[in-house]
Amino acid sequence: MSGIYIHIPFCKQACHYCDFHFSTSLKHKDALIDSIVGEIDQRAENWKSEKFETIYFGGGTPSIVPVADIEKILTKLRQNFQIDNRAEVTLEANPDDLSGEKLQAYRYIGINRLSIGVQSFFDEDLQKLNRSHQARQAVEAIQQAQTAGIDNITIDLIYGIPGLTDKKWEQNIQTALDLQIPHISAYALTVEPQTALAWLIKKEKYPPVSEEQSARQFEILQRKLQENNFIHYEISNFGKEDYFSRHNMSYWKNIPYLGLGPAAHSYNGKQRRWNIANNAKYIKGMDAKNYFETEDLSPQDIYNELIMTGLRTIWGVDLQKIRLLGEDFIEYLDKNAQKYIGKSLFIEENHLKARPESLFLIEGVISDLFWVD
Ligand SMILES: C[S@@+](CC[C@H](N)C(=O)[O-])C[C@H]1O[C@@H](n2cnc3c(N)ncnc32)[C@H](O)[C@@H]1O
Ligand code: SF4
Repeated sequence: MSGIYIHIPFCKQACHYCDFHFSTSLKHKDALIDSIVGEIDQRAENWKSEKFETIYFGGGTPSIVPVADIEKILTKLRQNFQIDNRAEVTLEANPDDLSGEKLQAYRYIGINRLSIGVQSFFDEDLQKLNRSHQARQAVEAIQQAQTAGIDNITIDLIYGIPGLTDKKWEQNIQTALDLQIPHISAYALTVEPQTALAWLIKKEKYPPVSEEQSARQFEILQRKLQENNFIHYEISNFGKEDYFSRHNMSYWKNIPYLGLGPAAHSYNGKQRRWNIANNAKYIKGMDAKNYFETEDLSPQDIYNELIMTGLRTIWGVDLQKIRLLGEDFIEYLDKNAQKYIGKSLFIEENHLKARPESLFLIEGVISDLFWVD
């Protein structure tokens, strides 16, 4: 089981908090889509024996480009790779791009899962984050998707937003529950350097993001979703049974994935490859094949990867996989994890796992367990 990720690097406007790779100019959109098609041609040979079970259009904002562009890429993928006919095909969409007609078209071309960027059901938060949509549009988009027959919907929410009270946060979660959403990704607002949010906080136009507020709201999220039969299967991801993101599971379970488009990463079990995060250079570099870099992974890199991905999920770190890297690694982990066992970590069926209540601060534990030469 492997996955294909396609990065569509365009957005209507820049959200204040976001440092993902995107451009707000669609000037080179056609050339870029053609380059993604060209990249598929180039990579088909190396990935032709792989069986793919998931396809994920992420961004940026894939819903900003016409459905025909998504279809063009999907057709090319189906011509060049072995794609399971029950594959999960996800598309990230922003509420203001969606209409009943467009959703029908998505369904027709084979999109069977939607990830809708809601962030908050309150207009004041959306304005603060510089989102391009209004709360009303998010509710309508979800209902229209359900009417169009796409019930496998996940929404993104953000907590820890300055001014987002616990009561409002609880209301946000309740609205998602009332809308019968089967999967939620919820992220603590992070102040990334070089973003408008970082600048606004520095200039004291926005209050700083409070760690205590985020920790409290994480607890509310866990409690409320657990009460409603959601499984908290990864730090930021909650799903009803059978609605976990099959695509993201490839990342968390160390399974190969093919990344296409600018800024996309690929992993084949031995080597990591990343495409340049610049639309013009990606397009220009296609013929000369100089639009990416690669790195062979050492056992240390693989160990760090297994720790980082495993401890974020309910499946934990497979200790047998660590052992296979060599006795040094299992001894190192054993020695360093001791102080956390019985507190934030525990061992179950030969897997090292994080306790659910420790997940909010698990990054600190993860970095402490890393192998640093
Ligand atoms: C990069 S966007 C791509 C999808 C789509 N453009 C959208 O905005 O929904 C994916 C998600 O990452 C989350 N995100 C990005 N930057 C973040 C930050 N600094 N803090 C918290 N969440 C963030 C948002 O919830 C967003 O929905
Ligand atoms: S959060 Fe989504 S819409 Fe906003 S800038 Fe980032 S990628 Fe674009």
